[in-house]
Amino acid sequence: MTVCDQTPAWAALEQHWAADIQSLDLSAAFAQDGDRLAALSQQAPLVFADLSKNLIRPATESLLRQLAGECGVQAWRDATFAGETVNTTEDRAAMHWLLRTPADGGLLAASPIAQHWSATVREALAEVHATLDTMLALAEQVRRDTAITDVVHIGIGGSHLGPEVVVQALEDWHDAGKCLHFVSNVDGHELGHVLRRVRAESTLFIVASKSFGTAETMLNAHSARAWFLAQGGSTDAARPLSIARHFVALTTQVEAAARFGITRTLGFWDWVGGRYSLWSAIGLPVAVAIGAERFRALLQGAHAMDAHFLLAPDAANLPLRLGLLDVWYRNFAGAPSRCIAPYSHGLRRLTAYLQQLEMESNGKQVTRAGEALAVPTAPIVWGEPGTNGQHAFFQMLHQGQDLIPVEFIALRHGGKYLGEHHESLVVNAIAQAQALMLGRGGAAPERRCPGNRPSTFLLLEQLDPASLGALIALYEHRVFVSGAVWGINSFDQWGVELGKQLAGDLQSRQESGQWWGVDASTRGLMQRLLGE
Ligand code: F6P
Repeated sequence: MTVCDQTPAWAALEQHWAADIQSLDLSAAFAQDGDRLAALSQQAPLVFADLSKNLIRPATESLLRQLAGECGVQAWRDATFAGETVNTTEDRAAMHWLLRTPADGGLLAASPIAQHWSATVREALAEVHATLDTMLALAEQVRRDTAITDVVHIGIGGSHLGPEVVVQALEDWHDAGKCLHFVSNVDGHELGHVLRRVRAESTLFIVASKSFGTAETMLNAHSARAWFLAQGGSTDAARPLSIARHFVALTTQVEAAARFGITRTLGFWDWVGGRYSLWSAIGLPVAVAIGAERFRALLQGAHAMDAHFLLAPDAANLPLRLGLLDVWYRNFAGAPSRCIAPYSHGLRRLTAYLQQLEMESNGKQVTRAGEALAVPTAPIVWGEPGTNGQHAFFQMLHQGQDLIPVEFIALRHGGKYLGEHHESLVVNAIAQAQALMLGRGGAAPERRCPGNRPSTFLLLEQLDPASLGALIALYEHRVFVSGAVWGINSFDQWGVELGKQLAGDLQSRQESGQWWGVDASTRGLMQRLLGE
């Protein structure tokens, strides 16, 4: 494929920004075009998007769609849904979409792509459902087991953030009476905090690690195992207080889990990227919290968004529109970051999840062909739930000197706390988006807000399993779109290896006392922090 910034559409978009959009007055645009809202908003499965307060015109989206075509985005999407090797550096497919595909293909079945699925894909689909049924049966067994009061999920990155954000977001749907704990950091305070609050005989430990080799997870798991044995636990599977009964592993490495002494392992496949794995066995804590039926509803919501992404026409394809908008702000408006403002306490960890999803997927600098990219890629994704952000960083959003697109996420129904609280929450979100656009003049310069600051508004009916599944799948696909425009591999993460290797080297040097070749700062810090 032609590298993105060498395409005709790229040049046209640069011209379009300079000539038509850089000076766009959003308020005037609404006054001049009564159809602006209709043209720049849409209903996708379970998610409504209002894009009309963005620094775009319909012509902008048309040029962005041209860019997508010239960069082969749609073809790359089709290859992904065909089970082809799109994770080129690890020689793998990326079939997280298969994890939520019904056994008969569901909404994808009638598509030409599905009609041509290989036997490998079809076999994988059968394995997905066998594992899903096993996972859900185990979850229901744990839910019924009154002897288990606490579930401790040990994992990090994609083996942590996905399950955590979904468990928290669906708090209103928890009905098993279990207390779920997440331990991810290697800082012993996190595990210690949890172990002081649970009892060995009433706790199930879940060790979640695709590789079953991540240092933090392995150390936490071994420390939890040591604690369990010190509490009277046994390695004898026949004993009630045994590792066998109180530990479960979620991994692609079944033998490694067995060597750890875990006999109950739920597996998944190398074509499931860590940050795309919550739909797999990694979702066990979610299924324990909300039950099998609601976990299937989570999958159904994501599947509906998958079908929308694969089958909807480009102009009404929300993941495509949002992914192209991300390219627009990053490469043409020059915005280095995007602020995520979920106006929902339940979505308080969504930004942390999206940071891994977007920045680990697209924080890269070479194309799939290994060519250096001359243009920036993933924006810095950051943010906090509203209304808290209004009392922290919204000052900068309103009066700072940077262009920072803001993404609001709001719920039409606020669950148990609908009343005054929910109305205040929603009104604040809408008012902030309006304020960013309108700005404020006035005599005193320190009181002026320049306005014309863009935002996207995503709306869910409620924070239920299906809506959440659709929302998360929407984000997965938009990240895919921007990565495909840039021509990068969104499914590997080689950048995280160096730090891991150097940590191992420093620990070896700490033991050996051999510091030759290590810079003075690193050596000095090791001495200050770990020296005698
Ligand atoms: O951050 C690097 C990474 O490999 C992530 O991609 C992954 O989600 C995380 O570490 C945990 O990996 P694992 O599930 O293999 O323990």
